[in-house]
Amino acid sequence: MKKFQVGVIGATGMVGQRFMLLLADHPWFNVTVLAASARSAGKTYPQAVGDKWAFDCPIPEKYHTMTVLDAEADMDKIADSVDFVFCAVNMDKAKIKALEEAYAKKEVPVVSNNSAHRFTADVPMIIPEVNAEHLSVIPAQRKRLGTKHGFIAVKSNCSLQSYIPLLHPLKSFGLKEAAVCTYQAISGAGKTFTTMPEILDNIIPYIGGEEEKSEKEPLKIWGSVKNGEIVSASTPVITAQCLRVPVSDGHTAAVFVTFEKKPTKEEIISAWANFKGAPQLLQLPSAPAQFLKYFEEDNRPQAKLDRMEGNGMSVTVGRLREDHLFDYKFVGLSHNTLRGAAGGAVLLAELLAAKGYLD
Ligand SMILES: NC(=O)c1ccc[n+]([C@@H]2O[C@H](COP(=O)([O-])OP(=O)(O)OC[C@H]3O[C@@H](n4cnc5c(N)ncnc54)[C@H](OP(=O)(O)O)[C@@H]3O)[C@@H](O)[C@H]2O)c1
Repeated sequence: MKKFQVGVIGATGMVGQRFMLLLADHPWFNVTVLAASARSAGKTYPQAVGDKWAFDCPIPEKYHTMTVLDAEADMDKIADSVDFVFCAVNMDKAKIKALEEAYAKKEVPVVSNNSAHRFTADVPMIIPEVNAEHLSVIPAQRKRLGTKHGFIAVKSNCSLQSYIPLLHPLKSFGLKEAAVCTYQAISGAGKTFTTMPEILDNIIPYIGGEEEKSEKEPLKIWGSVKNGEIVSASTPVITAQCLRVPVSDGHTAAVFVTFEKKPTKEEIISAWANFKGAPQLLQLPSAPAQFLKYFEEDNRPQAKLDRMEGNGMSVTVGRLREDHLFDYKFVGLSHNTLRGAAGGAVLLAELLAAKGYLD
């Protein structure tokens, strides 16, 4: 694989910092451009991040002398020096939409963590193990944008990653409905215990917009490509409640499911254990060998113990048992800034590279 020159837009943020760590030694991707707001522009990366650096490990050496550019004012310069960009910015939705489309129109593929384009019909919203085939919509998007090379591909919301990968292999049993309650880490709001002291000894029962995303995004992911657009599925029906809990990293989901053809417990565990998606088959650099890992122990998965399974890219699950209202219930867990954000986007970019969309 050739080495791609990569820009990170929003490099100073919580997700951006994760990109910096994941890409420091990536075999295919070489970060050559860092960009953020005008507030950070002109500063070196360490100066721009300042005390917002959220990790125990230091900022990788290679970024120490890199100067942060302004994602908007320096767009032409950035577009000229990269093969594609990752984008994770905290801006008004309409502005993000315009920013991502402007980069795509400058022939720069955009791999986005933002929600702005998730429901643009010709923009694929990808969990690489679940719906890699939706990339086939990209030629239609390029046609609409008038580009040869540029396009936008997005990843879904972080909350979904703790249950959609687990529900997906169960669709063959006629999965009808799922009720989900998510227990979401504070890094999902770009926060640490220092910047979100109100979460200590507390649970906050509201995350703006999250329940709608948790119910609606899965239907686009399970949708089908028709006439250059992705048409959302109408089932399985999902209802969700999303809570913020005092956990640094790792979103947990308590899930209840009903089926048309109720499988046995062994059939469910075997469907999870044997499930492989495109990243495993293509042996992408960030793909976990075991995507879905089932724990027999009653007290697993736990955020603190299990979020780093598969370098934070696996989804773990446990406590599968029959239920007297639904057919089964279980508990899932995924790392929200790795699988759920930067790691999921890097895996998506690897999939795009392997399928030739970045050439
Ligand atoms: N945290 C998660 O787990 C997670 C998961 C999935 C998706 N996301 C999504 O990822 C995005 C970023 O989230 P985050 O948690 O990393 O946010 P964050 O920590 O607040 O970081 C925001 C980033 O956006 C940049 N930015 C703000 N205004 C800008 C502008 N006008 N032009 C260019 N850059 C600008 C900031 O640069 P400055 O430092 O210069 O202000 C910073 O780099 C959001 O859309 C979020 O919904 C987050």
